Amino acid sequence: MQRRAFVRLVGGGSIAVALPPLAGCSQAMPPEAVAAWQGPGAEPDLRRWILAHAILAPHSHNLQSWLVDLRTPGQILLRCDRERLLPATDPFGRQIMMSHGTFLELLDLAARERGQRAGITLFPDGEFDPQRIDDRPVALVRLQPDPTVARDPLFAHILRRHTNRKVYDPARPIPDAAWQAMAAAAARGGLRFGHTAAGDAQLPRQREIAAEAWRIEMVTPAAMLESFQVLRIGTAEIARHRDGLSLTDPFVVAMTRLGLFDRTKAPAPDSMTVRQQIDDFGKKIASTPAFLWMVSEGNRRTTQVEAGRAYARVQLAATAHGIAMQPLQQSLQEYREQAGPYAAIHALLQAPPPAHTVQMWARVGFAEAVGPAPRRGLDAHLVKA
Ligand SMILES: Cc1cc2nc3c(=O)[nH]c(=O)nc-3n(C[C@H](O)[C@H](O)[C@H](O)COP(=O)(O)O)c2cc1C
Repeated sequence: MQRRAFVRLVGGGSIAVALPPLAGCSQAMPPEAVAAWQGPGAEPDLRRWILAHAILAPHSHNLQSWLVDLRTPGQILLRCDRERLLPATDPFGRQIMMSHGTFLELLDLAARERGQRAGITLFPDGEFDPQRIDDRPVALVRLQPDPTVARDPLFAHILRRHTNRKVYDPARPIPDAAWQAMAAAAARGGLRFGHTAAGDAQLPRQREIAAEAWRIEMVTPAAMLESFQVLRIGTAEIARHRDGLSLTDPFVVAMTRLGLFDRTKAPAPDSMTVRQQIDDFGKKIASTPAFLWMVSEGNRRTTQVEAGRAYARVQLAATAHGIAMQPLQQSLQEYREQAGPYAAIHALLQAPPPAHTVQMWARVGFAEAVGPAPRRGLDAHLVKA
């Protein structure tokens, strides 16, 4: 059912429009925006074949901040594109570093598939400081053919993995075998993996924290504006950018074309737009049968990358079991307004900061399938000679 909400109009005032959930929706994607999900086919260049899988990794706000230098034969040098950061909601770039971890994990799985050992050196010129990401490389990867390298069954799910933001089936629990597969997939980098069980006394409190953190994100102008900046509305914008959060709702597209949806101003906290987003998210959280989390000791840059690698594996393991997943990073974010939910979720998961960091918290369940999110394509990531 299509619901109506008010969005702020250019020049003031507001009008009723259908505003689908801001976290992205992906019907009717322009084919060129999702072409990368066909995979590399018979791509003859080994590094390009491997990287064509890596660019399908999950990335916060789908920013795809991966800059790849292939100028030295046999090597892949990965840097972060600092034009693609989220300073308001991810002020220290923790999620960006996790999103480089997801990339490296898919790269590693693809290399194994081709009988290659990917020797990955993180931060070869030194680790970034805790406050900011700089121009030094995130990773240097050396590929070596190695007949002893084992293929990983998770590779088979790379092209099928998608973040699912739909309502989940509240009555369908996660089978034990799936939890075991996810826990096994998470076992790297010293992370503690945990999850709720059916009827868990913690479930209502987890739902409460997730909903409150979402509400805060919706009423914090800088956070909303950051999302608005990466909104791609309609097929033309989606095809042009092939990144960010896609909106294809025909009414919003029409209003945007007419210049009537103003993305330069955050909606008022008591506006229909905000209330609808809160309401919509509340339904999703209420439908969620389970949550998972990954906690690290400390919060070094290498730890963040490792956490991203583990998350990619966990989501692939879930995909193998037909299970949907959506990260819930709002309460884990380090901006001032989220201090309450940040403290609450860290306390609930027995991860007292600063010794511990909840790197990932996600809703998990069974849901209607979703389609792929846009990708810019490998060539857009390559440093030119
Ligand atoms: C570190 C990290 C944080 C993320 N946080 C959220 C989040 O809070 N909410 C959400 O809906 N998706 C979140 N995502 C998922 C991304 O938005 C998603 O990966 C991206 O839009 C691309 O879509 P795909 O995963 O379907 O390929 C996160 C992903 C990563 C790697």
